[in-house]
Amino acid sequence: MCGIVGYVGKRDATPLLLDGLKRLEYRGYDSGGIAVHTPDGIQIRKCMGRLTELEKDLTANALIGRPGIGHTRWATHGEPSQRNSHPHQAGAGEVIVVHNGIIENYQELKEQLRSAGHEFLSDTDTEVIPHLIQQELADGAASPDAAIRQALKKARGAYALGILFKDDPDKVYAARLGSPLIVGLGEDETFIASDVPAIVNQIQNVIYLNDGEIAILSPEGVAIQNLAGESIEPEIKPVDIAPEAAEMAGFETFMMKEIHEQPRVLRSLLEKHVDREDTVIVPEIGFSTDYFQQLRRIMIVSCGTAYHAAMYGKFLLEHLTGLAVETDLGSEFRYRSPRIESDTLFVAVSQSGETADTLASLRLAREKDCKVLSICNVPGSSLVRESDSVLFTEAGPEIGVASTKAYTAQLMAFGLLAIHIGRARGEISEETEQQLMKALRAVPNAIHYMLERADDIQAIADKHHDGPSALYLGRRFNYPTALEGALKNKEISYQHAEGYAAGEMKHGPIALINEYLPVICICTQTEDEVYEKMISNMKEVEARHGRIIAVATDGDKVVADFAEDIIYVPPIHEEFSPIVNVVALQLLAYYAAQARGTDIDKPRNLAKSVTVE
Ligand code: AGP
Repeated sequence: MCGIVGYVGKRDATPLLLDGLKRLEYRGYDSGGIAVHTPDGIQIRKCMGRLTELEKDLTANALIGRPGIGHTRWATHGEPSQRNSHPHQAGAGEVIVVHNGIIENYQELKEQLRSAGHEFLSDTDTEVIPHLIQQELADGAASPDAAIRQALKKARGAYALGILFKDDPDKVYAARLGSPLIVGLGEDETFIASDVPAIVNQIQNVIYLNDGEIAILSPEGVAIQNLAGESIEPEIKPVDIAPEAAEMAGFETFMMKEIHEQPRVLRSLLEKHVDREDTVIVPEIGFSTDYFQQLRRIMIVSCGTAYHAAMYGKFLLEHLTGLAVETDLGSEFRYRSPRIESDTLFVAVSQSGETADTLASLRLAREKDCKVLSICNVPGSSLVRESDSVLFTEAGPEIGVASTKAYTAQLMAFGLLAIHIGRARGEISEETEQQLMKALRAVPNAIHYMLERADDIQAIADKHHDGPSALYLGRRFNYPTALEGALKNKEISYQHAEGYAAGEMKHGPIALINEYLPVICICTQTEDEVYEKMISNMKEVEARHGRIIAVATDGDKVVADFAEDIIYVPPIHEEFSPIVNVVALQLLAYYAAQARGTDIDKPRNLAKSVTVE
């Protein structure tokens, strides 16, 4: 939520800030703004709406200078408006700040600052930060960084900050606590950004700031210190993302590009984790066979799409490892009194690795002495840094707000993990492992065939997109697929959609069914014991004149009798069918959104990375 960027170097800051903000726009897009040191002093520009508005303003009226900071906003405190947009300032532009995160005690701080004579112009929590810093300077702080340190000791909550000082025109200051922030190192220039892809085309190396660190970017380079003012030797890492990975590569949207990347992403995930004997190799997990044999329980926590991956992971882990597996939403888990102990493996699933509720749950599990394994897509993220071990999904930057390739990579990661633990616990034989691996290897090609059928799916979406609602039904491994299909649809097309376990339909949602309601039924596993149950559920829909869109296996002769439309998918082992089936639903949602004319990569009200509770 919110993206920030900053630049120190010899080039003009404005185009670099704008370019970085455009790449961060997926994090928030209700307003944008920049502040730049110009020969006439610091100047600020802000615009409501998308960054194109800010760009138009800057084209009409250039802002030339350096260094500078920029922000793209996803409103938390205060409606999206010009006055609530960042940057925010104190005094006559003495301290200027962009912020991602939430200052929880801002009301209290605001009152204290008001009584000291400070005036506030916005409804944001952020605005207290420049005022706090200004007050510290007025109270005699020895330097800008000393003022920042003192101020931040008073703030409670989460922040990634970019800060300019009127009287220190060569530098950008930055600070991090609980919200992502990196320092990018180019040739004789430095950047700050919320993530690496924002500036990947400008830098060669990166420093992932830790919580409680302050960075001072100057023409001489970067200095890092902690909140006690002690200097810290940063770990400098090479950037390992190709600049093209953050480009649209000829696709009309990032989401479509990312849907098409899935066969490649999954293929390379498999190549990395499977040896010639078809044995799963996950050395990075680091837990011994003995550990898995002693293990009693797995608790998987996540949010949104990652939660659907967790549900799939639960079914698969239970099926292949004999362990008790539980899942919960991060926002629920953190307020429960969960009975987890050191014999529980806590698995956190997150694309971004920055989701506030997932992180808070992880910290709770740590307090209970659980080992923590993360399934994550972003190296250097908070989740990665706070876990005992990480299984990276390695899907590359996911920019479309609706998650696609990260989801299928999470499902694949659960496939690998379940087989690995199942073997370690002696629950599956070597032969079964090889059969499962053969089935898993077939997944990328099956998705490739699905993508070739996109036109058929588009025709179905064009026919059904205009109703007010849609119902998605699935069972067992494909129950999470139904939930994820419904989420994709509502997220990008704004059509109300419900995902349900098909067996639950008659306990309520059946009342919704009439001749207008599209009911998307996932019934691909002809060999599976739930196939016939699924057929019965579809009959129940048919009897009430619902409009059935079936997701069925090539060659299925049964569903054609009562489905109005059928999306055929290649045959795939039942355990891994969700990885293929969901691609059909991603495309269905995509084309529905296209027909409804929404902004697919940046759906209203959403932000890619939910770093607040
Ligand atoms: C996915 O389409 C959503 N935008 C959202 O539900 C997302 O999956 C959720 O916010 C969790 O994010 P994370 O995977 O980065 O933790």
